[in-house]
Amino acid sequence: MNVDGHGVSLEGRRVLVVGASSGIGRAIALAAAHAGARVAIAARRLDRLREVADEASEAVWPVQCDVRVPVACDLVARAVEQELGGLDTLVYSTGVNRLALLAETDVDTWRELLETNLVGAALVTRSALPALVAAGGRVAFLSSDSVDRPFPGLGAYAASKAGLETLVAAWRTEVSEVTFTRVVVGPTLTGMADGWDPDLAATMFEWWHSIGYLDREPVEPEWVAERMVHWMAAEDPPEDLDLLAASIVERHGSSG
Ligand SMILES: NC(=O)c1ccc[n+]([C@@H]2O[C@H](COP(=O)([O-])OP(=O)(O)OC[C@H]3O[C@@H](n4cnc5c(N)ncnc54)[C@H](OP(=O)(O)O)[C@@H]3O)[C@@H](O)[C@H]2O)c1
Repeated sequence: MNVDGHGVSLEGRRVLVVGASSGIGRAIALAAAHAGARVAIAARRLDRLREVADEASEAVWPVQCDVRVPVACDLVARAVEQELGGLDTLVYSTGVNRLALLAETDVDTWRELLETNLVGAALVTRSALPALVAAGGRVAFLSSDSVDRPFPGLGAYAASKAGLETLVAAWRTEVSEVTFTRVVVGPTLTGMADGWDPDLAATMFEWWHSIGYLDREPVEPEWVAERMVHWMAAEDPPEDLDLLAASIVERHGSSG
């Protein structure tokens, strides 16, 4: 029996991780496979997905999907269901952020953020819903601590995540057969900020420092993944999983 380093087994579980070509989603997919789940992984960069599948010694199945394309969301859900014989766990780790002051954020940037972080989450979930309902399954959506505390320069990103959180609450009101979990993620060491303009980033970091926003210590994606494996294995998964608070408690003994 495959188990993770903490004795958790996901043997028999069928998992789809969307946004698994890098960062947190990649780590979640690898950890779930290591714990014995059969895992489908989706994102746009197929080459990266193949690398993740090669890295896992267990069954990981890559499938290309751009969540901004509705038919691609339908196709990925259908293909995954056929390949895995159903689906009981969906993790929506997909996300993009863009560094820009609101006064300078154009409509294309708004569209990209909302289509990827919010609308894509709704479409992938809708496509996978029949399988998830049949399995009495669970879905986790990766949100951000910036919903409660938007960083200057990341306002549109924070707004897209606030929309995502309301989407999670709305799914709960309409579909009782599936558990919908909001996961609050704090700063995590990934390449999410790789595309930022370095000069603007330097200015914004100074600003964030001056208002005390750089007070949270980042965690590794593997730390997040370990908690997500526990969420997958939980008999009665929580609807709210605050990983920022959990990381503060782990480091300092209290989240205050
Ligand atoms: N890192 C942090 O500090 C942090 C903090 C709070 C919350 N989060 C959240 O955690 C989640 C994971 O972020 P990360 O840090 O791991 O970032 P990341 O390494 O950039 O991963 C983002 C993933 O989303 C995928 N993606 C982006 N656009 C897509 C699209 N149109 N269709 C399908 N997949 C798409 C990317 O794959 P492709 O480019 O191959 O499509 C990639 O696999 C995000 O929701 C993010 O908002 C991160």
